Amino acid sequence: MLASISRPLSLAAAAVTLCTSASANSHVFPPVDTSEWAFSDHYLWARQSQGIGGDGTDQPPGVPFLPDIPFAMNDSFPYSPPFYPTPNASGQGIWAEPVRKAREYIQSFNLTQRVQLVTGVGWQQGPCVGNIAAIPEVGFPGLCLQDSPLGVRFADNVNVWPTGLTTAATFSSDLAYQRGKGMGREHKTKGVNIQLGPGMNHHAFAAGGRNWEMGGADPYLSGESAYHTIKGMQESGVQACAKHYIGNDQEHFRNEGSVNIEARAMREIYLHPFMRSVQADAATLMASYNLLNNSWSAQNSYQLNEVLYTELGFQGAVISDWGAQHSGVASANAGLSMTMPGDELCCFTGQNSSFWGRNLTEAVNNGTVAASQLENMGVRILAAWFLLGQDDPDYPKPNFDSFDLSTPINKHVNVNKLYNTQELRRHIASAGTVLVKNEKKKNGYRALPLKKPNGHTPNHLAVLGSDAGPAFLGANGIADRGGVDGTLGIGWGSGSADYSYLISPYEALQGRAVFDGTAFSWSFDDYNLKQAKKISDERIGIDAAVVFLQSDSGEGYITVDGNAGDRNNLTAWHAGDELVKAVASVQSNTIVVMHSPGQMDVEAWIENPNVTAVIFAHMPGAESGNSIRDVLYGDYVPSGRLPYTVAKNRTDYESEVTYVNRSAPGVAPQLNYTDGLLVDYRHFDAKNITPRFEFGFGLSYTSFEIGEAHGEWINGDHNSKRNNDGHGKEHGKSHGHPGKSYDDQVGHDDGNSPPNTIPTQSPFVGTKVLPASLFKDVYKLTFSIRNTGDYDGHEVPQAYLRFPASAGEPPKVLRKFDRVFVPKGETKEVTWIFNAYDFSHYSAKQHKWIRSEGEYEILIGKSSRKIKRKVKVEGVKQKTT
Ligand code: BGC
Repeated sequence: MLASISRPLSLAAAAVTLCTSASANSHVFPPVDTSEWAFSDHYLWARQSQGIGGDGTDQPPGVPFLPDIPFAMNDSFPYSPPFYPTPNASGQGIWAEPVRKAREYIQSFNLTQRVQLVTGVGWQQGPCVGNIAAIPEVGFPGLCLQDSPLGVRFADNVNVWPTGLTTAATFSSDLAYQRGKGMGREHKTKGVNIQLGPGMNHHAFAAGGRNWEMGGADPYLSGESAYHTIKGMQESGVQACAKHYIGNDQEHFRNEGSVNIEARAMREIYLHPFMRSVQADAATLMASYNLLNNSWSAQNSYQLNEVLYTELGFQGAVISDWGAQHSGVASANAGLSMTMPGDELCCFTGQNSSFWGRNLTEAVNNGTVAASQLENMGVRILAAWFLLGQDDPDYPKPNFDSFDLSTPINKHVNVNKLYNTQELRRHIASAGTVLVKNEKKKNGYRALPLKKPNGHTPNHLAVLGSDAGPAFLGANGIADRGGVDGTLGIGWGSGSADYSYLISPYEALQGRAVFDGTAFSWSFDDYNLKQAKKISDERIGIDAAVVFLQSDSGEGYITVDGNAGDRNNLTAWHAGDELVKAVASVQSNTIVVMHSPGQMDVEAWIENPNVTAVIFAHMPGAESGNSIRDVLYGDYVPSGRLPYTVAKNRTDYESEVTYVNRSAPGVAPQLNYTDGLLVDYRHFDAKNITPRFEFGFGLSYTSFEIGEAHGEWINGDHNSKRNNDGHGKEHGKSHGHPGKSYDDQVGHDDGNSPPNTIPTQSPFVGTKVLPASLFKDVYKLTFSIRNTGDYDGHEVPQAYLRFPASAGEPPKVLRKFDRVFVPKGETKEVTWIFNAYDFSHYSAKQHKWIRSEGEYEILIGKSSRKIKRKVKVEGVKQKTT
């Protein structure tokens, strides 16, 4: 099952031109209501205030906008307004000293050297996947940029960590942090300056090819995952690179499609994890391949200059994805800081040209790019470098060669001998394993764990499926993991790394069987149903059969079995469903384990009574076998939760990968995100669709009770008393004024601002970094968790917020979660602090964050649908920030 690798071809597609043809008008699919976007993004204001577009007159900003001004000969396409200039890095927070040093240092760089600092040396022209050359004249050692978000790519003796999605499924900020720290240390040891991760594009499509690299379908979940991963990585000394900014949620058309997102969903859903990355002081961000609202992400001045640098106050550098740059002057002025890998459109051998390099020198010389703009780009790159202390002369130099492991550069540094992270990686993989079905058997015990509380272990266990076994060609037999061979530890593409070992489930389970005296049979042939039945038949004394299924996906430059990155279907690959049904026809204790990039369609067998236990094991990395063995035998009490919703029917999902371009030839495919805020469980809740398994769901071997919950306003934000859930004694109300925490003007969410709030100039002029008050802690929630079962274990409580109807939010949205260890018979108190942002929504009309007036409710549960406690948060007054 080898892949066809077509990187140059997929990049060639990037040459498609934009919607400049009037005839394109009739080919928009599906029709989009752009009225909200137009107003929300104030594009005409911006255009008029800058003399761009408009009707050619120089009306002062602030005049009523004219809805029918043509732009690019087609105003029916979503439009991204210009925003210039790029704000300078201001040195806020912990960036003060790094920015100061960067400004000082860059004075020693001449024009050519500054251009060198921002221009990669070209694909395969250095040891790393991206390289900034050393500039010895000024003592700059150069930069090594290296994939991936789960380990050092293209290097030997490194670790393949559990994937981003597996980590998200742990619902544990601590494990995200520890993973980040462990990976960051390995990257630094190998001489990497910038680790190209974490990824956070996973809100739109169940079949999205790179979902397994990302942090889950909910923005808060992926935001926390990103925040803590970055904290961990950067604590190890490596620069993080939050990617892909923004909207690269599917692989089809990633190089030429325009992802069209309206302002509110952009802020609340897609931007949120990037905002958390900025709050974690991510050193760099990666601009994605796609266009956003018909402007390439790497030259989208609104998304970079306004949203990222101004609203979020990002201080670091923006790096183009590999070949995502499409212009020289425009990208420099729009806020791109570094081009990667440096040559035009990446990766065409023999192509040494660059949009920047000499062209940028010329642009500065002829004044089309201001010298100060180039300086600012360089300052951002150097500030990120200083922030991480990489100016230390002892910071390791690259000691591996991505493209040839036999050259003398390779020192074969063995990270495992330096740092033993095996237990941690195994732990994260087990914690990201989600048990979704576990039936009681006639003997009174549930199917899992295999080792019963009375000590009994199976007499004879059967293991089925190619996904249980080792790879025929070896763990790295297929480049970039672009094909399946044996068990599936990670997906394919640049998000992969080479294994230094891979423990298959078969190896781990057979080892355990020998230890317990359990007889052990296996078959790896997914298609040989006869053999599968023969060895798992309970009439011959088999106690349980574990069927391993898989489904794979990855980055679009590789196609595996017809899957061009994105999955074509969500069912198990090979004859997986048939295999389960065959085994279940002869074995009343059939346990199904799935390795997958995310959602699976399990409908073919999920209700079969002989399928007694089902596990989403995600992609566990090298510790695959050990981690699943720990869960199956109860050495690890499962606590993983689904970081997405699993639907009964594929059509139940809110949206679908666009596989077929319906735009006119020469027009960028229009990928319209028409679901707005209704992504994942928000959609299922709003549309009243019963999923197979809801977001946040996962079973344990023990049981927990969530106790009475209390909420109260803190920090003088509100003069309320405590708010209790329906089981408490106090049913306090929160009344009163909202306090003094918001220093901005008050507005109304209906778009009809009172006279004193009408801006007197272009809204952009007043736009500024989100104020600290928006992130001030305002509300405290406490509750208890009691472990009422027979095992010590972790509960994963989740708090969802229900907004007042006037806010126009989905029925509930995740705001807090944690993975809490509670020994059996014991009780733990949980305290969660909410900030003002948590209670706010984005008003596209006002371009501000609003806290609506009315009754809020906090729903505390074990999943998005298993709500156990409710706390009313009453009398909240409106605030605008
Ligand atoms: C991917 C990035 C990756 C880069 C460098 C691109 O194709 O989208 O995620 O970091 O290549 O390999």
